[in-house]
Amino acid sequence: MDEMRDRLQELRVTAAEQLAAAPDAVAVDQLRTALLGRSGVLTVLLRDLGTVPAADRPALGQLANEVRSEVEGSILARLAALQGTALEARLAAERLDMSAPGRPSRIGHLHPLMTVERDLREIFHAFGFEVFEGPEIETDAMNFEALNIPPDHPSRDLWDTLYVAEPGSDPPRPAEDGTILRTHTSPVQIRAMQALQPPIRVVTPGRCYRYEAVDAGHNFEFFQVEGLVVDHDSSMADLKGMLEEFARALYGEGTRTRFRPGYYPFTEPSVAFDVACLVCGGGGCPACGRTGWMTILGAGMVHPAVLVAGGIDPDEYQGYAFGMGLDRITLLRHGIPDLRLLMSADLRFLSQFSAGR
Ligand code: DAH
Repeated sequence: MDEMRDRLQELRVTAAEQLAAAPDAVAVDQLRTALLGRSGVLTVLLRDLGTVPAADRPALGQLANEVRSEVEGSILARLAALQGTALEARLAAERLDMSAPGRPSRIGHLHPLMTVERDLREIFHAFGFEVFEGPEIETDAMNFEALNIPPDHPSRDLWDTLYVAEPGSDPPRPAEDGTILRTHTSPVQIRAMQALQPPIRVVTPGRCYRYEAVDAGHNFEFFQVEGLVVDHDSSMADLKGMLEEFARALYGEGTRTRFRPGYYPFTEPSVAFDVACLVCGGGGCPACGRTGWMTILGAGMVHPAVLVAGGIDPDEYQGYAFGMGLDRITLLRHGIPDLRLLMSADLRFLSQFSAGR
């Protein structure tokens, strides 16, 4: 009897100590099994109660039950305490400092070419033009023939063309269906005439491609904006007035301009449109070839054959068109010395243009 009592008392003390020292919930659980499990120390002790004399059993049984509920109580208390510390630790570690300054999010900005494109869209929008876009992958028929440039015509030399290869051809030869990369935005004139009813007043910004040796002033990939107006009486006078207004909107009120005769197969007559050199102001410098002028676009009255290709009756309608490159406008705007920088995707270069202009 005394031995049994001693064992229980000892257990009471060691169990309390062990539980109080258990570092985490897993350790508490292991102790629970070791004490109260099927072959746990206390369970075994209770089973041994059957071997003590009957007279001693009630007192010992009561003690054993006390110890048991004490152990159970200690287990719960230890678990609760552990949970509390775990929560405290998390709160300390994950604490949000509401007073800390925010992390600035990195806001991107438009590529300088796209800023120029948007500016042109805006100017032409104010002039009543809507935007009409066409595909970069075109057919020879649209890019040349519909624009009054027959196969083998010498004027094709104006556009060094990138041909899409006929699938499976080796060595590669031009695709039989005439698929090419458009060399200018002019084929969109045809698409616009085919899709819209006069009066037509559209601008068509977009990427073009030519077979060029790449250097500071040439790239195989570049941007143009085309313009097309078709109406009963659109005239050369309209074209000239509109372009003069355009130059002032883009380069400022005092901008001096001039028209020169030009040649394009899809316009007749054709003109080149110049502004006073944007670098020297007209005195003559290397940037303008010492002429004092810079050509910014080509234009003219739409050739009747082009109207016909667009499904428009040239006896009823006439039109004017113009086309300009965006790359040079962008270079001049920012004083960028090399066209290749525009396509470099180099953030050290591009992030200089976050202000837009
Ligand atoms: N497509 C011509 C080029 O890329 C530019 C051009 C000239 C467009 C005269 C026109 C135009 O619409 O009338 O060189």
